[in-house]
Amino acid sequence: MTILAMDQGTTSSRALVFSDDLQVLASGQQEFAQHFPRSGWVEHDADDIWTTSAATARAAIEKAGNPRIDAIGITNQRETALVWDRKTGQPIHRAIVWQDRRTADLCAQLKDQGHEDLVRDTTGLLLDPYFSATKIAWLLDHVDGARERAEAGELAFGTVDSFLIWKLTGGRAHVTDATNAARTMLYDIRKGRWSEEMCRLLDIPRAMLPEVLDSAAEFGMTRADLFGREIPILGVAGDQQAATVGQACFAPGMLKSTYGTGCFALLNTGERAVRSDNRLLTTIAYQLDGQPTYALEGSIFIAGAVVQWLRDGLKIIRQAGETQALAAQADAGQDIIMVPAFTGLGAPYWAPSARGAIFGLTRNTGPAEFARAALESVGFQTRDLLEAMRADWPDAGEAVLRVDGGMTASEPAMQFLADILGAPVDRPKNTETTAQGAAWLAGFRAGICPGPREYARDWQLDRRFRPGMDDGTRDQRYSAWKRAVQAVLAV
Ligand code: G3P
Repeated sequence: MTILAMDQGTTSSRALVFSDDLQVLASGQQEFAQHFPRSGWVEHDADDIWTTSAATARAAIEKAGNPRIDAIGITNQRETALVWDRKTGQPIHRAIVWQDRRTADLCAQLKDQGHEDLVRDTTGLLLDPYFSATKIAWLLDHVDGARERAEAGELAFGTVDSFLIWKLTGGRAHVTDATNAARTMLYDIRKGRWSEEMCRLLDIPRAMLPEVLDSAAEFGMTRADLFGREIPILGVAGDQQAATVGQACFAPGMLKSTYGTGCFALLNTGERAVRSDNRLLTTIAYQLDGQPTYALEGSIFIAGAVVQWLRDGLKIIRQAGETQALAAQADAGQDIIMVPAFTGLGAPYWAPSARGAIFGLTRNTGPAEFARAALESVGFQTRDLLEAMRADWPDAGEAVLRVDGGMTASEPAMQFLADILGAPVDRPKNTETTAQGAAWLAGFRAGICPGPREYARDWQLDRRFRPGMDDGTRDQRYSAWKRAVQAVLAV
């Protein structure tokens, strides 16, 4: 028995074929174009999303030796908004990507009108352009005739999962799962249904929205011509939620953090949707058998991207992998702090117009100190998230952080993370946590994979990083970071 996991990310589409014991048999990956029509705008071509997803799926299946695929799991970049014509399947515009800031003014206006409490109480989110709702509103207001067509029921909205399922099923299913719905800013996460009030506030016709299902459910059958026969789509979750599942964070108090372009930390809070007093998001980690499991989420926009900047912006490294060797040469006596607020600051500050800064420069500061400060900035930002989580959920004080994503290959970065958190950091053997989470959801629904408890038992540790820094140094360094952020916010 085999499972295909499709992982549609912000910069590339991937597909992996898993065996029934969730070992990777083969994979395929394709990058696609990013469109930046104006400063702060980010778009994807819906066609690119679809063609790269279909091509990588076919390539992975072929590489695996064309096994019979029994189930498909989908995981995806979240919040990115697509609107298409129900009859023709044609998108009315390019997808507006989660990073896109074009609706900042609309969000500020809604905040000024005093709507943030409604948004937080209903959706668990904050009024920020990050989420789908204001992007849909923008599309309806700016594409000719879109509002009338939406009101007449001719248009469909979907996050990337929903769009892929529409394409895979040949337009037979317009569905999503609760984790993706929870990122739209239109979903009532406690009542488990689309919020009429939020739809009214944003003037979004309810008829555009997909049906919301569990994360392990029957989402539809693929068109027979795509993979030679119809295959059931049985698992769906947003990528950060799929990583939470992949990391087996099934018990309240368990915590994971994924280091890709950005960093997203999710703390399982069980059946309780905890309202954050510290500007974290309340979201759905996964939903099984109609029961949502909630999480507190902290989102940092720049993590691995700071290493890309060292490579492509500063050109002080040629490959990301060189960062740690360069950082190791840094002068221990220099306390350089880098605040990589290139696209503003996410949680817990939510300051879209903040910009980056470097503090503590001397005549002796060079590339090595920049590299070390870049790696450390990821640790400091994670500590900010953990502080907020500890304040919202006192049990988080005891949490062990499970990490995944490209940056976790850097031993010094992970050691600094443990040092500055003052908490253990666990790196699993399995590095494909996101795709594996999606594969498990589909396999679980198909009856191929065991339940959460057994899956969690199979989770294997590669290495535990234990905090080695003394309390005094940790406090002093973290205070320096906090002062640096305050200075950035004050500019
Ligand atoms: O919320 C955005 C997140 O889902 C994007 O993840 O891995 O595609 O950058 P990624």
